[in-house]
Amino acid sequence: MFQLPDLPFDHAALEPVISRETMHLHHDKHHKTYIDTLNALVAERGMAPDSLEGLIAQAQGDPAQAKLFNNAGQAWNHAFFWEALSPRRQTPEGDLAQAVAKAFGDLAGLKTALVEAGAGHFGSGWVWLAAEGAQLKVVATHDGAPLIVEAGLTPLLVCDLWEHAYYLDHKNDRKGFLGAWFDALPNWSFAEAQYAAATGAGTAWRFPLQGASDPGTAAPSARSV
Ligand SMILES: [Fe+2]
Repeated sequence: MFQLPDLPFDHAALEPVISRETMHLHHDKHHKTYIDTLNALVAERGMAPDSLEGLIAQAQGDPAQAKLFNNAGQAWNHAFFWEALSPRRQTPEGDLAQAVAKAFGDLAGLKTALVEAGAGHFGSGWVWLAAEGAQLKVVATHDGAPLIVEAGLTPLLVCDLWEHAYYLDHKNDRKGFLGAWFDALPNWSFAEAQYAAATGAGTAWRFPLQGASDPGTAAPSARSV
């Protein structure tokens, strides 16, 4: 069974861009519900997945597994999102900074690309900074679809475009939320490690499997941070 990962920071650490209240709802309720639903679907089917990535790959494209795929994708996407946020303002460095300059001119060019892609995305989903080898790209995915189903792309950063991510703090201003997120919250250290993995050095982030081998854990427990 999969467990709700702890937040890597305090619920209030991302204020004022993302409030404590939003983080409690988003992590403790929304993310937990995706994981609880996923675990129930896995149990119903008698499946014994050894990784969330493998389960997503197995369910992808199978209409009979659409609910499983969507909940598995949302479990993965939110865990990645938390890792790709930082309370400490950062800027990209080294190889990733060079790749940003090559693909977008400068950091402001990347911000424009991400904000426009996210603000213009119809409905719910996710906007990603991704690497195809050394080449950076901005990509949006719909609803619960994780970028890891996109062949050849490694996610570096992501922002949640679902209204539950920003409505309490930014109302209907998705564009304002995206701009504020980009200015203050990307975990560029994490993105640099992902970029290194995309270019052949190291391993890309995977969903944590703590407790996965514990047969006595029938359901994930709520965490408090
Ligand atoms: Fe979300």
